[in-house]
Formats: sequence, structure tokens, C-alpha cells
Amino acid sequence: MKKANPDVVDINNIDQWVNDAINGSLSRPVTPFSSDVVDRTKRIMVSMVHYKELMMMYTCAMKEIRTKFEVLDTEFKIRHQRNPINSISHRLKRTSSITEKLLRRNLPVTTESIEENLNDIAGVRVICSYIDDIYLLADALLRQDDITLVARKDYISEPKPNGYRSLHLIVKVPVFFADQRKDMKVEVQIRTIAMDFWASLEHQLKYKQDAPDQEHIIEELKSCAEIINATDEKMLNIRKQMEAMADTPTEEDLLLERFSRLDIPIG
Ligand code: GTP
Ligand code: MG
Repeated sequence: MKKANPDVVDINNIDQWVNDAINGSLSRPVTPFSSDVVDRTKRIMVSMVHYKELMMMYTCAMKEIRTKFEVLDTEFKIRHQRNPINSISHRLKRTSSITEKLLRRNLPVTTESIEENLNDIAGVRVICSYIDDIYLLADALLRQDDITLVARKDYISEPKPNGYRSLHLIVKVPVFFADQRKDMKVEVQIRTIAMDFWASLEHQLKYKQDAPDQEHIIEELKSCAEIINATDEKMLNIRKQMEAMADTPTEEDLLLERFSRLDIPIG
């Protein structure tokens, strides 16, 4: 058996060493940890620093995507006097959720594995006024030549069985740092105010799993999703009817209209 080195803390008896150190009863100064422990600690510190850098990169990728949507919204407002976007939010997946997802899928818990296997570390949610704005914005984003589409799920044309509706895009966007370009994956969820209202409440209700009549609640939620969708479609129809009712403006009318708005603040 290896003889214990009295100058090195026995990692299996660390509690005793901490107690002795606190009580001041260590007989003499000791080298606190063996070189093996120091090496392992350093490796853990290095991977934590890498992890933080990766999260910084995802955060910057979300900024890029946000800006792209903000630009589209600003342009649309000036050209068509209407904002297609109601609000934009973004979130970085929490460390505990990242670890949990990797472990659940039996994948390595490393930064390489995060980049390779997870598509939803960076999430941007765009809330639109009308259903057609969703496709208008998605198409305008995907036409940009620095954006690569990784995956597209249209839960509007094919809602989830529970009634969930949204357009999901996984895209890659290049981010330019001081010394490198990194293509980062971002999950974009585009939905109407009405779809978001349903999804937010349904998400909250998921945490209240102890409700007695689950089946009934699921049916009720689905029926709400359908009513909400019917309202979304009605609102879109109303907008289209109003647009059709407006007299077709002449080129001169349009120019005058836009000229009269010249000093309205941009953005
Ligand atoms: P995840 O592993 O959960 O990310 O599933 P996935 O990779 O199959 O992606 P999916 O497109 O199904 O869902 C991704 C995200 O969409 C979720 O993290 C939620 O934000 C949202 N989402 C999907 N389904 C639902 C739903 O039924 N209700 C609500 N409220 N949100 C949903
Ligand atoms: Mg997810």
C-alpha cells in the first residue's frame, strides 16, 4: 500500500483537514493538495472558462439575430407604416438544463458536445401581430446570404397534438470576434401574440401536473388553441379587408404620403 504523505492532504479525508485548518489544530503548514488534485482542478477550471466563452459566443449570436429582426421591423415600418413585430425576447439555456439534456441523451458533457448536439442553447422569440407576418419575417431572414437554415418546423401548418402553434427555425449565423469567425446555431421561434398567449399559459400549467382531471384539461387547452387560432385568422382577414377597401393610391399619392412622414423618428 502507498504510504500516506503527511504533507499532502488526503482527498478522502478532506473534511478532517478542513476542520483541523479551521480549528487551527494543523501541526504545521502543509501543501494543501496533491499534484493530481491540482491537475484535475486546473482541468475543471479550464473547461469552465471554455464554457463561459462558448456562452458568450451564443449570446453574441442572439444579438446578431435580434438585430436582423429589428432591422426588418424598422424597414417595414418606414415602407408600410406598420410594425410586423410586436416584441422580441431572447434567452440562453441554463447550465442545469444543458447538463440535464446531455445526460438524458447519454451524450458527453463537454463544450464540443454542446456545440455539436444541442440546437437550443441560444433562443430568440419573435412575437408578431398577424399570421402572415410570421412567414414574411422567416422568409426575409432566410434570404439573407449569411444565414444557413439547419432545420425548420412549422407547427402552424401542423400544430402539435396539444394545440401548440409556432414556426421554429434553427439557423446558423456567423459572428465576427477579434480573432475569428464562428458560425453559431440559434433557435428562432416566431409566433403571433395570440399563439404566445396560449403557449405561455400552457407552459405555466405544465408545472401543475397534480391536477386531478388531466384528460379534460388537455382537451380544454386544445379547444382554447383552436379558438385562439380562429381569432388570429379573423384578425388577419379584417386587416386584409381593410387594405383592400383602401383606394389604390397613385404613385404620386404614395410619394406624398411617404414625404409627409419624413421626420417621423426611425427605429
Ligand atoms: P426540445 O428537446 O424540448 O427542445 O424539443 P425539440 O428539439 O423536439 O424541439 P421542439 O421544436 O418540439 O420544441 C422546442 C421548444 O418549443 C420548446 O423548448 C418550447 O419552448 C417550445 N414548445 C414546443 N412544444 C411546446 C408545447 O407544447 N407547449 C409550449 N408552451 N411550448 C412548446
Ligand atoms: Mg428546447
